[in-house]
Amino acid sequence: MRTTVGIIGAGPAGLFLSHLLHLRGIDSVVLERRDRGHCEARQRAGVVEHGPAAALRAAGVGDRLDREGSVHEGIELRFGGRGHRIDFRALTGRDVVLYAQTEIVKDLIARRLADGGDLRFEAEATAIEDVAEDGAARPRIRFTRGGREEVLDCEHVVACDGFHGIGRAALPADRVRTFAKTYPFSWLGILADAAPACEELVYARHERGFALYSMRSAEVSRLYLQVPNGTDPAEWPHERIWAELDARLAVDGADARPNRGPITDVGVTPMRSFVTEPMRHGRLLLAGDAAHIVPPTGAKGLNLALHDVILLSEALHAWHGGDPGPLDRYSETALRRVWRAEHFSYWMTTLLHPDPEASPFEDRLQLSHLEHIAASRAAAGSLAENYTGIPEP
Ligand code: FAD
Ligand code: DHB
Repeated sequence: MRTTVGIIGAGPAGLFLSHLLHLRGIDSVVLERRDRGHCEARQRAGVVEHGPAAALRAAGVGDRLDREGSVHEGIELRFGGRGHRIDFRALTGRDVVLYAQTEIVKDLIARRLADGGDLRFEAEATAIEDVAEDGAARPRIRFTRGGREEVLDCEHVVACDGFHGIGRAALPADRVRTFAKTYPFSWLGILADAAPACEELVYARHERGFALYSMRSAEVSRLYLQVPNGTDPAEWPHERIWAELDARLAVDGADARPNRGPITDVGVTPMRSFVTEPMRHGRLLLAGDAAHIVPPTGAKGLNLALHDVILLSEALHAWHGGDPGPLDRYSETALRRVWRAEHFSYWMTTLLHPDPEASPFEDRLQLSHLEHIAASRAAAGSLAENYTGIPEP
């Protein structure tokens, strides 16, 4: 089997890349180890920056995002029993769209299939071969499907296979540097059939731990709690989750408790920062979580994945037109945005999570920092600028 670009992974990165390449007349095959239903149901991100939202619209896959997503012009920071609004519109002129990653994935799968795209579910890539740029490169992906081993030959391999995929491991160890940080806490996330009790996202710093109030629609709430690493969701019966959310989201003199309803999904996510440099080796390119991970507090992971493949689709298009420059610069260009998002995500995480290992001195610094952001337009402006997404220079 042969195609122009072999893509591993049908997450947002792989699917959007396949669609963008199709719009530029470049064919691709997407190999995905899970089934379609699993990819469409995996609960993850919700915040789409201004730029990627515009890119989805420009690529003709933004209709449902515009109809069903909701524009958010700010967020609330909550600490010390009080809420403080960060007004993105006033501070930056930009906003974000709340539209679940599951819906972006559904939209992209439906569009690729309607356009005759080649998406192979339950096809697990097992090896990436002959990608070194030595004149004799014959890139190919070995994969198994239905118990049979098959081979996909291509011009380029793009690994969009997430943090646990095989793409990153196929880079030669002596040419790669990785940078990593783990955090001493995780997130427990729930989805509940309950009307959100607030209109905007609430990022709450409480002595008991961080909490995030988000939403999916007028009927569905998405909430997160900081929990210790290694937490088993079984330790968190639903009543305990609601009681903890009530405590951490509390506001002095008002009832700020979330509306309750049946919990339909519970998951625990570790928090880590991770970067691979470079994001290319010869004919093998990495995009999205395959190359970098951020802790979810800054809402950047999905956005970085979409930014990477926008850049990559342009670079591959130029390469096919005889200009290798943009592809040669792909890693360097992508990594500039990646490191900005890494810093912002680390910053938001350390700002809002009480660290179980922190000293009382560091706790006070954290509160002082939050008060500064609430009081200073310049400090709030920096948060707003990063959260909504820094435009390309
Ligand atoms: P993935 O979505 O991980 O897709 C990779 C795909 O590759 C998967 O479908 C996998 O099955 C497949 N695959 C892996 N190995 C193989 C193989 N060998 N062969 C074939 N297929 C393979 N980001 C934000 O921007 N905003 C947010 O608000 C946000 N919130 C988050 C909340 C949570 C709880 C979590 C967990 C993440 C959040 N993120 C957020 C991060 C975001 O979800 C990820 O960054 C995003 O999914 C990355 O997309 P991707 O396409 O690179 O990788
Ligand atoms: C959501 C997730 C995040 O990590 C975040 O920072 C904001 C919102 C969400 O799933 O809605």
